[in-house]
Amino acid sequence: MLAVDVEHAARIAFDAGNGSISDWSARFHRDIENIRHYPVVALDSQNSIVGYARTCWHEDDLGEENSAPNGWYLMGLRVEEAARGRGIGQQLTSARLNWLAERAEKAYCLISSHNVPSRELHEQLGFTSHGSDFNFPGLEIGHEELLFSIELPQTP
Ligand SMILES: CC(C)(COP(=O)(O)OP(=O)(O)OC[C@H]1O[C@@H](n2cnc3c(N)ncnc32)[C@H](O)[C@@H]1OP(=O)(O)O)[C@@H](O)C(=O)NCCC(=O)NCCS
Repeated sequence: MLAVDVEHAARIAFDAGNGSISDWSARFHRDIENIRHYPVVALDSQNSIVGYARTCWHEDDLGEENSAPNGWYLMGLRVEEAARGRGIGQQLTSARLNWLAERAEKAYCLISSHNVPSRELHEQLGFTSHGSDFNFPGLEIGHEELLFSIELPQTP
């Protein structure tokens, strides 16, 4: 993602109904500046942005019992409704996994237990679920997010 992509990506994120466009713009600008974050966008054949995805390093030093592991997390993926079902979500995820494979042996993500498309997408790529019995900043007790992980292929 480049600074010039931020406004359009923020609009797609805003359409999901969480936060304001300016919140999302600020978040994407912080992603671009942080070397431990990796924001990407997908373009259609007209070079319009039709989706975005984020990757962030997560480190929780609260030492809470049952904390989700520290590590790299796929943290946000959205494809515009009109562009879904064409492999864009999978490409955005594969691009991030390729980037992560050069940096880590494992990656994580959190997916709502109700989100069948996202679960299917990640399971197809090799993610496995570890259930919902974990704590993560911002998630309340009894949350319905599932923790997924994947072993990343290591190049010699
Ligand atoms: C989840 C999301 C990103 C998928 O994007 P997409 O571009 O439509 O997905 P793809 O076309 O790349 O599909 C890849 C795989 O995902 C799964 N999938 C995608 N849409 C699906 C659906 N509606 N039902 C079941 N599985 C689905 C399939 O396994 C598919 O592989 P296949 O085409 O071989 O069957 C998209 O639906 C979205 O933006 N949803 C709203 C935001 C969201 O839920 N983000 C994820 C948060 S963890």
